[in-house]
Amino acid sequence: MKLDPTASAAGVRLIECDTVGSTNTEALAVARAGERGPLWITARSQTSGRGRRGRAWVSEPGNLYASLLLTDPSPPDRAAELSFVAALAVHDAGASLVVPAAARVALKWPNDVLIDGKKFSGILIEGEGPTVVVGIGINCAHHPKDTAFPATDLAAEGVDVTVEGLFMELSAAMVRRIAQWNRSAGFEATRADWLRHAAGVGGPMRVALAQGERSGRFETVDARGRLILRLPDGAIETVTAGDVSAFSAERRVAAAER
Ligand code: BTN
Repeated sequence: MKLDPTASAAGVRLIECDTVGSTNTEALAVARAGERGPLWITARSQTSGRGRRGRAWVSEPGNLYASLLLTDPSPPDRAAELSFVAALAVHDAGASLVVPAAARVALKWPNDVLIDGKKFSGILIEGEGPTVVVGIGINCAHHPKDTAFPATDLAAEGVDVTVEGLFMELSAAMVRRIAQWNRSAGFEATRADWLRHAAGVGGPMRVALAQGERSGRFETVDARGRLILRLPDGAIETVTAGDVSAFSAERRVAAAER
């Protein structure tokens, strides 16, 4: 595995592991021991890969498992915006390999990346004090079959990619997207780009929340990265944490750019 030269030039380092429990756990552990990053930790496989909302992330060899350790990347209450930054970086890395990318690769709130409406990448942000770990899983060669939301991998979609080639693109894209975000001062540009590449803006959407399911129309993502859902009675539901369970995967570019 190699970093893109632009990442090395930006002071980013890399530790490559064979099998670990979770690259996020490794990153948090090295941070506890004094590491400040920016540092990528990658693994060939994970034995206890973690997904969002307490789910497991199946991590056999062949896919990309990587965590970027950052220290104090923004004011603490803005660190969650890194979800959008990282999703855009995965989008950029994927889009550089997929043709025609604009029609096939899209984002799903808050930080999943889809190809032809199926998820091929997930992101888990974790923090401890000033440490923020951005964990990224990208399905290159295989994907789980029993997921609530349809999953896929890049090979299954006809995208010819190596884990190494994809990681190099990702390391460069993360440097660019973190610079754009600019410790959260640039979130408006991040948000606009995210919406430009999002699937289903303006269309029907169902979201699973802690208090049950809500159906409505996906209006936008607000200045704090919250999902804004227009309910059938016209009221607005602002969603901070939830799972989009169904939506129209179509890219509605005109709506997204409103
Ligand atoms: C999701 O549920 O969509 C998020 C999945 C995040 C998986 C990645 S793989 C690298 C890093 N290490 C982990 O244990 N999880 C993240």
